[in-house]
Amino acid sequence: MIILAIETSCDDTCVAILEIRSGKLKIRSNVVSSQVKLHAKYGGVYPTLAKREHQQNLPIILKRVVKKADNPKINLIAVTIGPGLEPCLWVGVNFAKELAEKINSPIVPINHIEAHILANFIGGVQGSKTKTQNFPAICLVVSGGHTQLILMENFGKYKILGETRDDAAGECFDKVARILGLDYPGGPAIAVEAAKFQILNSKFRINLPRPMIYQKNYDFSFSGLKTAVLYNFKNQPLKIRKSKDYIQKMSAEVQQAVIDVLIYKTIKAAKNYKAKTIILGGGVTANQELRKQFKRKVEKEIPGTKYLLPDIKFSTDNAVMIALTAYFNYLKEGIKKWKEIEADANLRIDEKI
Ligand code: KG4
Ligand code: ZN
Repeated sequence: MIILAIETSCDDTCVAILEIRSGKLKIRSNVVSSQVKLHAKYGGVYPTLAKREHQQNLPIILKRVVKKADNPKINLIAVTIGPGLEPCLWVGVNFAKELAEKINSPIVPINHIEAHILANFIGGVQGSKTKTQNFPAICLVVSGGHTQLILMENFGKYKILGETRDDAAGECFDKVARILGLDYPGGPAIAVEAAKFQILNSKFRINLPRPMIYQKNYDFSFSGLKTAVLYNFKNQPLKIRKSKDYIQKMSAEVQQAVIDVLIYKTIKAAKNYKAKTIILGGGVTANQELRKQFKRKVEKEIPGTKYLLPDIKFSTDNAVMIALTAYFNYLKEGIKKWKEIEADANLRIDEKI
């Protein structure tokens, strides 16, 4: 079968065509059109601008994707309905509905968070590295909009154990980067500065909090971390604020604070729920330090536990993961006609759609 997927939940306009024959997966085409430059001056995503861009880009990208895939017959359309930015989601949903009507195809509504989890199986089904699954699994989804710890009992069976009470981890990086005068998106910019930091050469001592790390729950809070950076920054003379040493040290410290909390709480959940697998997903999992330190901690503290990470290009938003999620849903439920598909900005992974 051939699935065409559309993803517009945030600031990337994504369309992909995925072919699945006898369980084998082939990405026929995959385009991610980033709006980073547009939103950079705001230091975050500006929803009305993002919506307008999606509206302008979608028809152009669709044409490109279809041409690249040699104009195949589409059997199924998949579209992200939530969670995400409401105006942006609606652009994708309305576009998918019109297209479905035009080519007489069923539509499968997709949960963006589930897609970030299932992005781990793109490589596996493609045959590069067969990643087997084993349940229960503990999933950590960390992106610009979400930070959630999820118990996955099987494909399609999820329970949210905890989530951020304020800012998401990626959002924290984006806001801190703005304070420090670094580029948007902040995650990659902070990672670059953090990698340059050399402890022996630094004259700074900065100790940021690890918010909620030892609390008896699986929730997170990153807004206080950003505020701690802001206070520290404001207390520095202008010369220091702009110095390489300070920016590098602060980047390394904020990155480590986020990593420490994410790893500690995920491993705690894995131990408590006797998880056989840990699955990571979302834009922040593109962070090399997070990947490295997570792997080390899993091997040391819960040896034998499988550890799945998406390929870097499928960590951040893309439509291949949306198509693959549609395939998993199709395997479970078959093709249905979805007449009343609606965007839902606050859609939860444990909600039936
Ligand atoms: O999953 P995603 O592409 O979009 C959302 O669903 O939000 O995640 C985007 C987020 C941004 O906040 C960005 O700063 C962060 O992922 N990010 C990173 C890295 N690459 C992207 N954070 C840390 N290190 C990275 N290398
Ligand atoms: Zn995402």
